[in-house]
Amino acid sequence: MVENQRVCVTGSGGYIASWLVKFLLSCGYTVHGTVRDPYDENNDHLKKFDNAAKNLKLFKADLFDYEALSSAISGCSGVFHIATRVPFEGVPLTEEELIKPALTGTKNVLEACTEAKVKKVVVVSSIAAVVYNPKWPKDVAKDEDCWSDTQYLYSFKGYWRYYYLAKTLMEREALEWSKKSLADVVMVCPSVTIGPRLQSKINSSSLGLLKFIKGGIKSLLSEELYLVDVRDVADALLLVYENQEAKGRYICNSHSLDNNALMEKLKNMYPKRNFPESFAERKEEEEVKEEGLRLSSEKLQNLGWKFRSLEETIDDSVVSFEVAGDLPKP
Ligand SMILES: NC(=O)c1ccc[n+]([C@@H]2O[C@H](COP(=O)([O-])OP(=O)(O)OC[C@H]3O[C@@H](n4cnc5c(N)ncnc54)[C@H](OP(=O)(O)O)[C@@H]3O)[C@@H](O)[C@H]2O)c1
Repeated sequence: MVENQRVCVTGSGGYIASWLVKFLLSCGYTVHGTVRDPYDENNDHLKKFDNAAKNLKLFKADLFDYEALSSAISGCSGVFHIATRVPFEGVPLTEEELIKPALTGTKNVLEACTEAKVKKVVVVSSIAAVVYNPKWPKDVAKDEDCWSDTQYLYSFKGYWRYYYLAKTLMEREALEWSKKSLADVVMVCPSVTIGPRLQSKINSSSLGLLKFIKGGIKSLLSEELYLVDVRDVADALLLVYENQEAKGRYICNSHSLDNNALMEKLKNMYPKRNFPESFAERKEEEEVKEEGLRLSSEKLQNLGWKFRSLEETIDDSVVSFEVAGDLPKP
């Protein structure tokens, strides 16, 4: 058990952050969680976690509000920067709406970390900052040396492109800051994250899986899928935080497969469930089809990271959808 260690988690009511906050509290950490609205009922689950009454303090902080972020980070020895605007439900967002909060938010968080003399910062990036590199050799698995090419991303047409750019640019900003900071900075790049959710409102990646199961769209995100369990992402964040040897960036991906293989798996796991036979095309994502399926999480595994089977993740996701009323029981 960790006693008297105070850490800040930005965007603590979100899908990934909620699991991290739960794990941190169960390990004995005191957590300063930033939320945009502490009275939003979508943040109520945080207050029900074990040890929350004693060890969780919520701070109202938008990513644009330096003073509010600084108050939340003050007194903390570690910070997990997770908050980012994530596109939802196919609603197109502009460059300004996605890149500006990611960059200004990261700058504000890192400057507040400098001011508060934070010792370790863990930044949640994404494999979106890794995989879009046309120059990477096709026969070599993409690892932490592979960075998405921003010129290439600007040439994309789909509505996810500004999100991919936002993640790539914010991770580069964190990397630059790490070179001149006394703090240890580690970046974690999760793949598409699925698994049970703790918050009441569905998040973007869970909705992708739900729509895949219920029908409506052809692909979960792209033809080729990289998937990881939300609890394994939270484990990875805690692991790199606590391990002194952790340095640089870490790809956090467990399963690589394509849409057809995922659908086959679902049909085998749930023979009584009716799956859609036809799907609408997901037009906006055609540009990512050329990406290879090889992505290595060896660096994270060498630190001791383990991940769940895809079957366990799918099963727990389905139960979570049923409990929330998103998916009828067959
Ligand atoms: N889920 C995935 O498949 C996946 C994969 C790779 C990386 N990631 C990264 O993981 C992180 C968390 O994603 P998630 O899936 O957990 O998404 P999420 O549930 O939508 O969480 C995003 C969080 O960011 C907060 N946020 C957004 N704009 C903000 C702003 N202007 N000021 C302050 N907070 C703001 C949201 O707060 P509100 O509740 O107030 O909106 C929410 O708590 C993000 O950095 C995302 O890029 C996610």
